[in-house]
Amino acid sequence: MSGAKLKAPRGTFDVLGGDACVRAGIESRARTLLGAAGYERIETPAFEATELFERGVGESTDIVRKEMFTFEDAGGRSLTLRPEGTAPVCRAYVEHGMHKRRQPVKLWYLSSFFRHERAQAGRYRQFWQIGSEILGSEDPAVDAESIALLAGLLDELGVRELRLRLSSLGARETRAAYREQLQAYLRANESSLSPEVRERIELNPLRAFDSEHPGTREVMAGAPRLLDQLGTEDAEHFAEVRALLDIASVAYEIDPTLVRGLDYYTRTVFEFTSDALGAQSGVGGGGRYDRLVEQLGGPPTPGMGWAAGVERVMLAGGAPPAASQAVELFLALERPEPELRGVAFRLLGEARSAGLAAQMDLGGRSLKGQLGHAAALGARYVGIVAPSHVVLKDMQAGEQTELAADAVVHAVLRGHHAL
Ligand code: HAM
Repeated sequence: MSGAKLKAPRGTFDVLGGDACVRAGIESRARTLLGAAGYERIETPAFEATELFERGVGESTDIVRKEMFTFEDAGGRSLTLRPEGTAPVCRAYVEHGMHKRRQPVKLWYLSSFFRHERAQAGRYRQFWQIGSEILGSEDPAVDAESIALLAGLLDELGVRELRLRLSSLGARETRAAYREQLQAYLRANESSLSPEVRERIELNPLRAFDSEHPGTREVMAGAPRLLDQLGTEDAEHFAEVRALLDIASVAYEIDPTLVRGLDYYTRTVFEFTSDALGAQSGVGGGGRYDRLVEQLGGPPTPGMGWAAGVERVMLAGGAPPAASQAVELFLALERPEPELRGVAFRLLGEARSAGLAAQMDLGGRSLKGQLGHAAALGARYVGIVAPSHVVLKDMQAGEQTELAADAVVHAVLRGHHAL
C-alpha cells in the first residue's frame, strides 16, 4: 500500500476549531429564533430514493440533470445523497401522517447537502443549510412570517450588505402558459441568444433570465414578465404578502426576473443576496410550493419555506457574537509527578462538576511552560499543585494564596461570584 497523503474530496472541507465554534453559534441562534417561533426540529436521512428528487425538484432542473450524487445500493435501488431539504421534509410529512396534526406544521433543520457543482469559493459539493418549512396553510401571513424570520436571523448573525428580492410565480397553470409564451419569444429572438440559452429553450426557458451573456440580456430586457400575468387570486395573495412584509419593516425589491433553480415553486419566491459575496451571492432563498406534497403522493397541502447556506452566511460576515470560552481554572503541576497529577486530575473533576470551565496540563510541560499555556488560554485562575498544598493565582488581580487542595474549587467559585 502506498503512503501517499490523502486529501478530502474536491469541493468538501473539514470543519476545524474556530470555524466549528462559529457554526455552533449560528446553530444556537437559529434554534433559539425558530424554536421561539414554534418550529420543531426535523432531520431526514442523508440519502433518499432518487425518485423523490426527480419528482420533487424536477427533471428539467440543473440539480436533477447533472448535480446529484446518485448510486445503486446492493439491492439495486437507486439512491441519491440529498441535494436539498424540501422534498425530503414533504416526504416525511406524508410518511408520518403529519397532515392529521393541527395545521400548519412548522419544521426546521440544519443538515448537510450534496451537489456535484463546479467547486469554488462559496460553492461546495457538501455544504450545510439551515432551513424551515411550514406545511398546511395558504395564508399570506405564512409567507411573510417565513421571510421575516430569515431576515431576522441573517440580521442577528450580522450578514453584511443584504438585499431581498421578491416575486411571485403564480399558479402552476399560469406558469405553464407563461412558459409557452416565453419560449415563443425566445425562438423569435434565437439568433441573439447564447448557445446555452438556445439549447435550453425547450427544457428550461426561465433560466434565460439568469444569463450573463450580453445579447441574451438585451433580449431578456424586453421579454414578457410572469408577474404581469398573475391571476386575480395570486395577485391578491402577493399583494397581501407584500403588505405584511411592509408592516414587519422587512425591506425588499420586487424582481420579476427572479428565477429559482427548483421546479416546485408556486406563488411567492424570494432570495437574499449579499453584495459582500462574489459570484455566489445567494445567501438564502425559498418560496411557496403548494403542489409538492400532492406530487409526492400526499393529500393536497400548501407549503412554504426557505434554506440559507451556512458557509455563505459565514463568508458574508455572519457569525454570532463570540461566546466567551474563557478558562476559569487551569491546574498546573509543580513537578511532573504521578501523585501531583492525581491530585490535579481529582480537582479537575471537582471543578467541572461545580460548573467551572477547567483544564489541566496534558502536555507534560515544565512549570514555566504550563504557566505560559495557561496565560495563552486566558485562564482567570491558575492552581499550581504542590505535594502539600495548592498555590492559587488570581491572574487578574495578580495575587496568590496557598490553600489545601480541598479548598481550591470553593475558593475559585467564591472569587468567581464576587466578580
Ligand atoms: P437553494 O436556493 O437551492 O434552495 O439553496 C439555498 C441556499 O443554499 C443557497 O442560497 C445557498 O446559500 C446555499 N447553497 C446552495 N448550493 C450550495 C453549494 N453548492 N455550496 C454552498 N452553498 C450552497 C433550496 O435548497 C430550497 N430547498 C430552499 C427551500 C426551502 N425552498 C422552500 N423551502
